[in-house]
Amino acid sequence: MSAIEINPSILSCDFADFRGELARIANADMAHVDVMDNHFVPNLTFGPPVVERIRAVSPVPIDAHLMIADADVHAPVYAEMGCESVTFHAEAAAAPVRLARELRRLGAKASIALKPATPIEPFIDLLPEFDQILIMTVEPGFGGQSFLDVCLPKIRRARAAISEAGLDIKLQVDGGVSAKTVERVVDAGANVLVAGSAVYGAENPAAAIDELRSLAGG
Ligand code: DX5
Ligand code: ZN
Repeated sequence: MSAIEINPSILSCDFADFRGELARIANADMAHVDVMDNHFVPNLTFGPPVVERIRAVSPVPIDAHLMIADADVHAPVYAEMGCESVTFHAEAAAAPVRLARELRRLGAKASIALKPATPIEPFIDLLPEFDQILIMTVEPGFGGQSFLDVCLPKIRRARAAISEAGLDIKLQVDGGVSAKTVERVVDAGANVLVAGSAVYGAENPAAAIDELRSLAGG
């Protein structure tokens, strides 16, 4: 398996200073940008014009996590503006394969996310259409929630399915990832870790990234 990647979530940063906050995570693999629409999730963050500026000032590529309804319509906008990876929710897409192909055609990595209650089984045969699958380990909407251990078996099943099919796709985990939970997550098979409060809640976010990476063995 490839090295573990750490993608800090800027949901926990100071929204008044994206440029400065992004500079503090220059040693990350990507910046995880949580887009919320107050409809798919009960919280609202920002949309295309703000993400475009975040991308322009980020020292690392953008990992856009779209927690928005009507992903089929809205997700391509993020690929068009140059987000390197675009994750949409399985629960919010009418035609996930068509959307994945559209994202790839626009030059982005295509990624599909599953909420804790969404089973992975219906998506296993579709995995070759994606560059990444994201298993949520909290209910999406807010940073700082506790890691849901009940999601670990799904991470294991995702890893088994990826290995069995011989696919080269990333397995991302998002929600409650910290120094306390990182080993469980990696042991279950994740290779891309999102961490919001564990990184931006630390005095030195860059050091927190290094610590997570070393605990993850990558
Ligand atoms: C939650 C977001 C996460 C969030 C993670 O809905 O998708 O990316 O920022 O925050 P922590 O790491 O604090 O759980
Ligand atoms: Zn996220």
